[in-house]
Amino acid sequence: MARGGRQTHFGYETVPLEDKQGLVDNVFHSVARRYDLMNDLMSGGLHRAWKGALVTAVNPPRSGRGFALLDLAGGTGDVAFRVVEAGGAGTRVTVCDINPDMLEVGRERAAERGLDGSVSFEEGNAEELPYPDRSFDCVTIAFGIRNVPRIERALAEAYRVLKLGGRFLCLEFSSIDIPGLDALYELYSFQVIPRVGEAVTGDREAYQYLVESIRKFPKPKAFAQMIEASGFRRVSFTPMTGGVVALHSGWRL
Ligand SMILES: C[S@@+](CC[C@H](N)C(=O)[O-])C[C@H]1O[C@@H](n2cnc3c(N)ncnc32)[C@H](O)[C@@H]1O
Repeated sequence: MARGGRQTHFGYETVPLEDKQGLVDNVFHSVARRYDLMNDLMSGGLHRAWKGALVTAVNPPRSGRGFALLDLAGGTGDVAFRVVEAGGAGTRVTVCDINPDMLEVGRERAAERGLDGSVSFEEGNAEELPYPDRSFDCVTIAFGIRNVPRIERALAEAYRVLKLGGRFLCLEFSSIDIPGLDALYELYSFQVIPRVGEAVTGDREAYQYLVESIRKFPKPKAFAQMIEASGFRRVSFTPMTGGVVALHSGWRL
């Protein structure tokens, strides 16, 4: 144990809670420019279908009605772009992420796609959001919550900034529920992903962390209970691809 105080996981390492964020930030600083390419390579393109399911659940209005989405840990804006493309003229997305390198890549992409009027990129910590109470219609977080050191704080903040009647949606890696697939997935995660990560980004350890952090994340039922304990109602989750990922949902009522 390095110091006193609360400990947490950084992959399989146990680190002081206050050190985790800096370690996570180094990972995303290192992979920012190749992050989107790596998502396609690692998931065989499946992340597109998972994000598609998230966007369907967000269900942005196709009319010009105003709709404000906060995409937490939104990185390079992948979810944000999909939501504004699915929604009508009143759909606006705020991407909030702690990492300026990921946000910079996102800003460039938004400008290239002509979406910079509908998507804004803002630096912020999911544990302490720089937004007033009840300011968003929907809050999403995709593959981000497991990187946040104090998950309960991020859930409480998501709840605080949601309007009454607003929905929280969280897409995250989960636990495999098909016998046989788990062993294959284990092999792929620990043997293939860190090697591909090293070849594409030059940083094997970053991808080693990412696969280890998936194993350390709470099981879907336990995570659903955490969402409920933060005040959300009608909490549910939908496993996808045999439990590789799950889409969690809760409402502020
Ligand atoms: C795996 S990426 C996901 C990016 C994006 N949501 C996607 O699905 O493509 C995780 C993101 O979480 C961000 N992150 C980590 N800790 C955070 C925190 N405390 N607050 C906000 N963002 C955080 C990282 O900077 C990174 O961009």
